Amino acid sequence: MIKANDRPAAIITVEDMTAAYEGEVILDRISFQVFPGEVFIILGGSGCGKSTLLKHMIGLYKPASGRILIGDLDVVTAQGEERLRILRRIGVMYQAGALFGSMTVLENVRLPLEEFTGLPSEAMDMIARMKLSLVGLTGFEDHLPSEISGGMKKRAAIARAMALDPEIMFLDEPSAGLDPITSAELDQLILNLAGNLNMTFVVVTHELPSIYAIADRVIMLDKNVKGIVAEGRPQDLRDQSDNEWVRRFFNREAEPPRKSSDETGPEKDRSVGRTGGEWTA
Ligand SMILES: Nc1ncnc2c1ncn2[C@@H]1O[C@H](COP(=O)(O)OP(=O)(O)O)[C@@H](O)[C@H]1O
Ligand SMILES: [Mg+2]
Repeated sequence: MIKANDRPAAIITVEDMTAAYEGEVILDRISFQVFPGEVFIILGGSGCGKSTLLKHMIGLYKPASGRILIGDLDVVTAQGEERLRILRRIGVMYQAGALFGSMTVLENVRLPLEEFTGLPSEAMDMIARMKLSLVGLTGFEDHLPSEISGGMKKRAAIARAMALDPEIMFLDEPSAGLDPITSAELDQLILNLAGNLNMTFVVVTHELPSIYAIADRVIMLDKNVKGIVAEGRPQDLRDQSDNEWVRRFFNREAEPPRKSSDETGPEKDRSVGRTGGEWTA
């Protein structure tokens, strides 16, 4: 295990960051770091600010106060060239994550290349095909999104997010709406990409099996606290957290902190058997 003082420099630093919408504070002075090559998970109940945090980390929204760094580049103040340098280091799959329905899978993956590079058309095709092969979609280049399954659409969206060879991938609830098996396959893909391409992943999820399957570290956000209630390796939080509620979440002794209005709520128990035993080992 890496000791704190042996750690490489952080690839993401969030320092004393407050996120607010029109004066309503959602996250209050939170701080954490993500290290290169980690699969870092943001979890917490619906509406606690997971997507908000992600959008701040990629510079889409400006924090009310505090700092966010990608490497040593300041996400909040970066403009022009510097902002482009940050954007090229990150790939994003948003919660809605939709592909453009009128474009083929290949055309979708080519989009960022067309937007950000001046590469010849054949080179863009080649790169897009390579990204599609990395996510197991060789042979589906010419399909429209409506012609492929939900899991394949997520894979294609990941391929699109990888088009510019990002160092960091941000995925907002990648397995939402997927069946347990497809969702487990997506976990495997993330592990594979993190392991083989040494990409850093920041993933929003509240699927406990996914957390145990892929996370190096997690932070857990809480709506009442407006901040981080737990941080660490999932196994350690399960066994050692001083916060009983956190321990219970990781042990699944009680229902996870979700309301029935939560989009994945009614189906949550379907995932229990998927990686059965993984978190009781
Ligand atoms: N663009 C926005 N403008 C105003 N309020 C927002 C906006 N986006 C999210 N919120 C509010 O911020 C809170 C956190 O939302 P969100 O980050 O989407 O939560 P999560 O992703 O954890 O479910 C919610 O109360 C939500 O209604
Ligand atoms: Mg969200």
